[in-house]
Amino acid sequence: MTDSSTGMMPGFGNHFATEAVKGALPVGRNSPQQVPFGLYAEQLSGSAFTAPRAENRRSWLYRMRPTASHMPYAPYGKDSLLRAAPFDEVPPSPNRLRWDPLPLPETPVDFIDGLVTYAGNGDVGTMGGIAIHLYAATRSMQNRAFYSADGEMLIVPQQGRLRIVTEMGVIPLEPLQVALIPRGVRFAVALVDGAARGYVCENYGSPFRLPDLGPIGANGLANPRDFETPIAWFEDQDTGFEIVQKFQGRLWSMALAHSPFDVVAWHGNLAPCRYDLRRFNTINTVSYDHPDPSIFTVLTAPSEVPGTANCDFVIFPSRWMVAEETFRPPWFHRNVMSEFMGLIHGAYDAKAGGFAPGGASLHNCMAGHGPDRASYDAAIAADLKPHRIAETMAFMFESRYVLRPTRFATETELVQLDYDECWADFRKAELPK
Ligand SMILES: [Fe+2]
Repeated sequence: MTDSSTGMMPGFGNHFATEAVKGALPVGRNSPQQVPFGLYAEQLSGSAFTAPRAENRRSWLYRMRPTASHMPYAPYGKDSLLRAAPFDEVPPSPNRLRWDPLPLPETPVDFIDGLVTYAGNGDVGTMGGIAIHLYAATRSMQNRAFYSADGEMLIVPQQGRLRIVTEMGVIPLEPLQVALIPRGVRFAVALVDGAARGYVCENYGSPFRLPDLGPIGANGLANPRDFETPIAWFEDQDTGFEIVQKFQGRLWSMALAHSPFDVVAWHGNLAPCRYDLRRFNTINTVSYDHPDPSIFTVLTAPSEVPGTANCDFVIFPSRWMVAEETFRPPWFHRNVMSEFMGLIHGAYDAKAGGFAPGGASLHNCMAGHGPDRASYDAAIAADLKPHRIAETMAFMFESRYVLRPTRFATETELVQLDYDECWADFRKAELPK
């Protein structure tokens, strides 16, 4: 099952089994009386024990020391722009918002301290909603590990390669790939290129999964085998580590005398994974109009209401446009779902300018938006030959709940105060006299 060239195992939500030392993984028992080599068996659950089998997620970790062996956590002492639900710092504005790219810090800042929350919704206490963070970092996490008890983290790099060490293996990650780290799994982010920037969706709710395909059939969109989970990897390191956890919206810290990355073997279906967005099987019209953007859903985190996601992760990749007698860019719309967009590279086909790689936009519930004037004018005049939207990758975190911006997101100088003007001066329709 292991792909030896990448050290990754294919499949989404599979029941994986992997060992970094031959013979470390118990056979026939999850928790035998004597675990090989004196390792400690530990269950990590991502669902209630009694969740239906199709929803049930758990893994068994076999590690050099039990996670339970640690001193108390204390409040994290450093300033942070990380925020959490209920997102009531400032009154949520009904206005459309767009931001310039988050600049890289001028001082050494690692992934944890480089997280800046832009918006979110729901409640960490009742495990619903999401938080949307951007990160801008200039140094690797050094003898530090992080985890969120509040939700899983979908990491979307925009600039700079990462090496994410997790308890369950190592994930090399580059822009145009995403990583999904389950709630509670500890990880450390090293910067391969010296600086890095990107986006994070922290999902407080039900875990992300692949969307149902309905009439599309058995294949299409993100194919399960293109998700990759790392093989077991550990470090036997008895030097000091700081563990930072996010719990109920706040950061807490604890010193550990050894590396937390001491899981020698594990098995189960709760595990981090990586997905390359370039492998997405993009589906769209071959006749007229175009489907709703849900056709671009990579992963969905459902709510208790069928078809109404706590969060959808949607991408707008390079693709052919062939629709006949059709306005091809995204149409004007007002949606009940709220939309936070980012751009990894290239240009987005509904905006002629202002939406830059590393930037972001927020169009909340019932906010009118769509193509800007320049994109509209070009689209209605276009000669409708098949053409390729090349070299682009935009994405959206879409939520059933209104996304409430943080104080930073509202007051930062990155906010484009003239955003509304991109929809100014549309000509009035001329009715027949
Ligand atoms: Fe939209």
